[in-house]
Amino acid sequence: MSKSKLFEEVDFGPIRLSNRIVMAPLTRSRATSDGVPKAMHVEYYRQRASAGLIISEATNISVEGRGYAWTPGIYSDEQVAAWKKVTDAVHAEGGRIFLQLWHVGRISHPDLQPNGAAPVSASAVKPSGKAFTEEGFKDHETPRALEEAELPRVTEDYVKATKNARAAGFDGVEVHSANGYLLDQFLRDGTNLRTDRYGGSIENRMRFPLEVLDAVIATWDKEHVGIRISPVTVMGGSSESDQQRLFNAYVEEIAKRQPIYLHVIEGQTGGDRGKDGFDYDALRQRFDGLYMGNNNYDLDLAVKQLDAGEVDLVCFGKPFISNPDLVARLQLGAPLNAWDQATFYGGDEKGLTDYPALTPEERARYAA
Ligand code: PHB
Repeated sequence: MSKSKLFEEVDFGPIRLSNRIVMAPLTRSRATSDGVPKAMHVEYYRQRASAGLIISEATNISVEGRGYAWTPGIYSDEQVAAWKKVTDAVHAEGGRIFLQLWHVGRISHPDLQPNGAAPVSASAVKPSGKAFTEEGFKDHETPRALEEAELPRVTEDYVKATKNARAAGFDGVEVHSANGYLLDQFLRDGTNLRTDRYGGSIENRMRFPLEVLDAVIATWDKEHVGIRISPVTVMGGSSESDQQRLFNAYVEEIAKRQPIYLHVIEGQTGGDRGKDGFDYDALRQRFDGLYMGNNNYDLDLAVKQLDAGEVDLVCFGKPFISNPDLVARLQLGAPLNAWDQATFYGGDEKGLTDYPALTPEERARYAA
């Protein structure tokens, strides 16, 4: 039975989390074609409510922000009503849940856009790879660069989504500024070739993401808003000539706004934790709120990093897919169920809600 402070309560702005283990945002692509969560989403999140905090799967703030088939949204009344059932179920189990605000920018496809339009981005730079549409994978196409005059409209979509998340009973929202999606496209000089106030210098490239963060915080408040970054992750061929300088500066600006947490994907998202020489400590030193570490943590690494003061909260991703009672299993030293990659995306309850929790007898046995 592990006694680490990983399993102890922690202050989290106006609320307390029952432990420092966070369920990472995990795309599962099982909502309706209109982005409405189903009954199986209620059960899936309810089963995982013993996490100190759940971050919802990435959720589209608008139709324009959508890049993957069957991902949920938070822009329609129907979506809000469906999410309310999820948050009620999580709260009934004593859990907490944030909604992740997502705009994929160029990582989309005309098939997923209103009227078959081109996806939007900071600049007209085509991503590598393929989009996941309802008809299967299709090559990405060249996006349309957002005009400066349109940016307030996109910010307003974040604001509406934040209001909707609040109305749906979420405990807060996470601004997704990672993984090569819209805000990351503005940050990086490989995807932002703009010559207006939103491109060029680091200060200019940070402008739009920070305007979004400011607007989201102004809509709710800083204690209900977190932000996610992935300094070295390359997705869709995004690139940046000086990641350390960019992210040091970005975190300094984020820190001034005092969001409740900084969620950092250390290394390549879903992959190697990175021997890339990036100094994550430099970010930690610039941010005095809660630092949430993510990427390939196991119990040993979580305890080690927490004890060393390197992190305050630890995200687990794939282990939460296959272990609804992950917190208890980690604490008891019980074995973990293996995950089935084939059922990560799309489909039905199989691979979503049918992974077993420990029985009371098994729990007692591991506790002994
Ligand atoms: C994905 O669906 O593969 C995905 C979604 C959001 C992320 C990363 C990956 O931040």
